[in-house]
Amino acid sequence: MANERTLSIIKPDAVAKNVIGEIYSRFEKAGLKIVASKMMHLTQEQAEGFYAEHKERPFFNDLVAFMTSGPVVVQALEGEGAILKNRELMGATNPKEAEAGTIRADFASSIDANAVHGSDSAASAEREVAYFFNDNEICPRG
Ligand code: PPS
Repeated sequence: MANERTLSIIKPDAVAKNVIGEIYSRFEKAGLKIVASKMMHLTQEQAEGFYAEHKERPFFNDLVAFMTSGPVVVQALEGEGAILKNRELMGATNPKEAEAGTIRADFASSIDANAVHGSDSAASAEREVAYFFNDNEICPRG
């Protein structure tokens, strides 16, 4: 499997629950390396730009309001098959459908407050990592 990078966000609900370390530990135990990381409070403009592809969906305003409601932690993860591996660790978008032991099953409370984001394809991963990190903020670790 190819070495990949993917973009992950620990959303405001999970930051408020104080489970940043628990989620980081799951990435590391699965063999993913955190190669860039920052805590930030997204502006309306940043959240709208990040989710631009969902602009026409009925939940767009709620999603942007939620993502700007408190601080998030944004990271680039690197490893073999990182995009799919991260999606497997996260579980289904709706926590009620997420498999036991996944991040969303354990920490998310609803489809809007669902603890984490992860890129869903190689093209999204490339765009999303570049959306938050400059090249000099990413530290490949071999
Ligand atoms: S996914 O994870 O991209 O396959 O899911 P998708 O269904 O395409 O949803 C895109 C993002 O919108 C969020 N979402 C919602 N937010 C608020 N309310 C409702 N009903 C809702 N449904 C979906 C979903 O969590 C995805 O956000 P991210 O940050 O990518 O997880």
